Amino acid sequence: MQRAFRICALVMLLVSSLFAGSARPSVDSKIEALLTQMTLEEKVGQLVQYSAGEATGPASGSVRLRDLIARGQIGSLLNVTGAAETNALQRIAMTRSRLKIPLLFGLDVIHGYHTIFPVPLGMASTWDPQLVNQASRVAAQEASAEGIRWTFSPMVDIARDARWGRMVEGAGEDPYLGQIMAAAYVRGYQGSRLSNHDSLAACAKHMAGYGAAEGGRDYNAADVSERTLRQIYLPPFHAAVDSGAATVMSAFNPLNGVPASANARMLNEILRHEWGFRGFVVSDWDAIAELMAQGVVNDPATAARKAILAGVDMDMQSGLYARFLAGLVRSGKIPEPVLNEAVRRVLRIKFALNLFANPYVPEVKSAAQPRLEPSQDELARTVAERSLVLLRNEEFHGAPLLPITQVARTIALVGPLADSAADMLGSWPGKGDAASVVTLKSALSQRMQQSGGQLLYAKGTDIDSTSDDGFREALDVAQRSDLVIIALGESAASMTGEAASRAHLDLPGNQQKFLETMVAVGKPVVLILFTGRPLALPWAASHVSAMVEAWYPGMQAGPALVRTLFGDVNFSGKLPVTVPRAVGQEPLYYNPPKTGRPAGDADLSHPPRNSAEKYVSRYIDEPNSPLFPFGFGLSYSRFAYSAIQVSRSSSSARALNRGATAIRVSATVTNQGARAGKEVVELYVGQRGTSVNLPRKELKGFKVVSLAPGASQRVEFKVGREELAFWNIEMRHLVEPAQVTVWIAPDSVKGPSAQFTITK
Ligand code: NOJ
Repeated sequence: MQRAFRICALVMLLVSSLFAGSARPSVDSKIEALLTQMTLEEKVGQLVQYSAGEATGPASGSVRLRDLIARGQIGSLLNVTGAAETNALQRIAMTRSRLKIPLLFGLDVIHGYHTIFPVPLGMASTWDPQLVNQASRVAAQEASAEGIRWTFSPMVDIARDARWGRMVEGAGEDPYLGQIMAAAYVRGYQGSRLSNHDSLAACAKHMAGYGAAEGGRDYNAADVSERTLRQIYLPPFHAAVDSGAATVMSAFNPLNGVPASANARMLNEILRHEWGFRGFVVSDWDAIAELMAQGVVNDPATAARKAILAGVDMDMQSGLYARFLAGLVRSGKIPEPVLNEAVRRVLRIKFALNLFANPYVPEVKSAAQPRLEPSQDELARTVAERSLVLLRNEEFHGAPLLPITQVARTIALVGPLADSAADMLGSWPGKGDAASVVTLKSALSQRMQQSGGQLLYAKGTDIDSTSDDGFREALDVAQRSDLVIIALGESAASMTGEAASRAHLDLPGNQQKFLETMVAVGKPVVLILFTGRPLALPWAASHVSAMVEAWYPGMQAGPALVRTLFGDVNFSGKLPVTVPRAVGQEPLYYNPPKTGRPAGDADLSHPPRNSAEKYVSRYIDEPNSPLFPFGFGLSYSRFAYSAIQVSRSSSSARALNRGATAIRVSATVTNQGARAGKEVVELYVGQRGTSVNLPRKELKGFKVVSLAPGASQRVEFKVGREELAFWNIEMRHLVEPAQVTVWIAPDSVKGPSAQFTITK
């Protein structure tokens, strides 16, 4: 019986390996056959991408797109939407071009296409890869239905400086959370197989160090040590590649003196050679031409040459590949095999997407807006609920202000973001329609109607206004209410995202003055922040009764907020970024290297203090501690953490490096509150005695547990090679002998700790 089983298994293995063996060569041989037929111009065409719609960067002159498609001189278009539009252009490629190679349509589908979910920073606040996966699946289904098969997402740049406007587009400051989110997006977009008609090729961007722009100023140079690059900035890219990301976008910025579009070491050595990436690399918008402004070439032909030799396969929008590559190959300045290899990579993805067999999408005959499935609304609402971070919930008349109770019969809602549908969509809103957004005002007024209460609304001021004219009306509604909800923040379109770095991290316009005026009325105040980055609001954090960081929650912003504010669902989001007290603390993140002169910056007492000593690492005019730490978020439940149990008190570095069993650490988390709730349980690891200075603690795991009132759960993590290895003094990724501290904790500051030793 056993023998028969073994034979059967062997036969199956043989058949499947034959199948795998025959499937790959058949695509490869098709690619080779195409290559032999292609003229130089047609080869180059596959590497050329132009924007056919609205520009998402400086435009580089008009091109006659249709003619070029017919001549096989364009491989990809971006910013085309709608099934009829993509089909029409595709038809030119498939019927009029000589070799009938399909176009690949790309778009920035960043946090939804029609159904708009929270911005990525909000998605990261859920700490739930499953939700991110589901949301990206929906985005993929909606975008692919219109012929878009490639999204320029996820942005996996680590962002440690809140001045950088693009922090909103990523998963925040931590490489571990960044890796988990990167993988979730890629898997969600690409689905079970890239060849499925509803999958999108993902694009991990912007490689690399774009988020480390000096001073947080977009497009600025970054200087990052090799160790920090490996330890902090590259892991999310690696995770995206390991999850099968089909493409990677090179960044705009110079990194350690080398512009990203000319960085052969990054693209050819690390990405391809070390990590085994087999997809293609697209440049960022016009970035190849920007090599000239960056001063590494003096003419456009050399820019094109440098970029392709560095491993940039596709030229987004600059037009330099189109103008110069063929000539450069003819004159021998670029070896033809280099060109062929780039073309192969692009064709491979087109085959993988099944575009040759299936280039068109069905066209829906009605001109009406595509109907959004109710179940997608529900998912959008759930993700939004889970993305909200409760930062403060003080007692008012003897009980926490939130959740809002029946006592609040009349609620005043004020502030410029209370009813701003467009802002709720965040930056890169895809084809999201502001008309489908449910704002806080509309959801709250419905709620108050249902409960027989009253909602009084006054905008009060604009996001960036200097006029106090509206204050009076807002004051009036505040005075007539039992509770005031204030919705403040940044303009999603102009103050967050690309080219939206800020030198100030305060509330724009006169919003701070507005807030102080409202608080002075003396009613309990709930402050809801709609921002694309953490703002430094120390006054608010000590004067309002409750404070919620909502980011931009997407289409279901209003219902998600109302349901959490009233306690239908509990808050469970936690911060994926550190909230500063002052802009001068930036870049601010929870895991800097240890200093020889610490200032007691773990002290979060009120008011927080640094050590009184002079010669320590501190500011003389501001505590080192953040306003709210990374990983922090309150809930209506109260979670208690037990002492940590460690499965072994020591292990050896040698054994761990060889893959020995990890040490298991665990703690029991108990919901001591009266409401059911979800808690993100975070694992941090710190090491001492290592060959290089490591951060005091680093996130190495997390789990979300759901607990009924009074319920407990034991949460276990493994700490092994993956959690302990780091880039050591010889730049080898290894576990070293060390004294290890682990924390199982509700955030990056608190929580019980335990220790174990790693011997030689
Ligand atoms: C420039 C941005 O940096 C990039 O993220 C985006 O994908 C492209 N423009 C295309 O819109």
